[in-house]
Amino acid sequence: MPDDGFIDGINRDFFGGGLSPAFLEGIRQFPTERSDVRALIERMCDFASQAGLRADDLSALQGDVLGTLMARILPGAWQGRVPPITLKGRHEKLDRLLQLNRYLGERTSGRMLDLGCGFPPETTVDTADALPGWTIHGADPSIPTAMVHDPEGSYATFGADGQMIYCQPFAPTVENWNALLADVEATAARFRDIRSRFGGAGPGRHEAPDGSRLFIEPQAAYERDGLTFSIGGIGQVDVTSMDVVRCFNVLYYFDHDFRQRALEWFASILVDGGILIVGGDWAFTTECRYFLYRKEEGMMRPREFTFSLDNVVPFGVVPFFALHPRDRGTTMLARMVRTLRDDEAFLARYYDVADGLRNRYGICPRGEDGYYGTVASDADPGELWGRVRDIADTIGREMGEEAVDVLERSGQRAWINEIGMVSVALDADPA
Ligand SMILES: C[S@@+](CC[C@H](N)C(=O)[O-])C[C@H]1O[C@@H](n2cnc3c(N)ncnc32)[C@H](O)[C@@H]1O
Repeated sequence: MPDDGFIDGINRDFFGGGLSPAFLEGIRQFPTERSDVRALIERMCDFASQAGLRADDLSALQGDVLGTLMARILPGAWQGRVPPITLKGRHEKLDRLLQLNRYLGERTSGRMLDLGCGFPPETTVDTADALPGWTIHGADPSIPTAMVHDPEGSYATFGADGQMIYCQPFAPTVENWNALLADVEATAARFRDIRSRFGGAGPGRHEAPDGSRLFIEPQAAYERDGLTFSIGGIGQVDVTSMDVVRCFNVLYYFDHDFRQRALEWFASILVDGGILIVGGDWAFTTECRYFLYRKEEGMMRPREFTFSLDNVVPFGVVPFFALHPRDRGTTMLARMVRTLRDDEAFLARYYDVADGLRNRYGICPRGEDGYYGTVASDADPGELWGRVRDIADTIGREMGEEAVDVLERSGQRAWINEIGMVSVALDADPA
């Protein structure tokens, strides 16, 4: 279906028609026939404009990511399932938060549930490495019972019902993704065929002469003393007496009522005094925001909302990613960013710091046309987002105290938290 003016409408309605040609060229790559992708783009632009972002805050890179990545991470691409995507190092700061946390006190052990941990469970393994004295359980409805690699290294995972859960190309280029997802049924059949060549192989790793591989019960490869996994989601995992529950990059897929029920269930599995951190982030805990709840007298009490300052002019697209217009985390983030951006002196200094860093690192620098650019097309993702983390940390250090002042002047109780992010106190759940 040709672009029927949808993107022009977005540009006009949310950004006064001022989006850059490079941003528009990137975003126009989205599959226009997918109504879920249209709705997501519209919702994200709405949240961005609620946060006060202007057309010249949006980079060519963001246009490209919106045009090419979003369609692949929506349940609509996966027969309604939330894809189990995760990234090594993603929650590195959250692991530090647990070591330093003001509500937990100094401790070298505890019990933690990483719910919706994704697969392969990279971030849960990171946490077990960072918190060696702790007992950690990762759970996810999409932990597979079988994982099949083709000879090139692309893989697919399957559930106990034999249905394909997820697949991923050996190299995550747009072409490779399109080749796998153009016909999901055909892709599932191809991997099922590879699997069938291993006959009734039992638990463990099996390799064929052509290089294709089969793992049965692949999560077992990640288990060790103090680290276990199980298949299950919110309300389904058989655990109790947790000191910490982390639920990251999960709830923005669900609506308000589901979230309320989830909170009740979290209360039932936490010890009194235990905490829930629930929110979202991108690589290396950039573009991060979360609510921290503490269980007190049997109830989940919201204690703080925390966000990293790179959200004020983000590099990526996670800050405003949400599947529901009332998404609590995204709404709260937009409100905080708006408060900061409405302060002209703060915003001017923020641009000064952030634009200087973008130029110095060569990451989406501001061009002569006044718009943010992109990155080298062959940039290594690990290195790229590692540098973005360094930029975000510098922005946090340079702008943190000023951000706290602005928020305090607006009536919030705010502070720099244990991991250098900005927290505001909550006495009740925000509407
Ligand atoms: C984007 S991944 C996040 C993975 C990891 N937590 C991270 O932050 O990188 C979202 C995960 O939520 C899981 N999920 C979907 N429905 C769920 C539910 N009802 N309860 C818990 N997790 C769920 C999906 O299977 C998927 O692995």
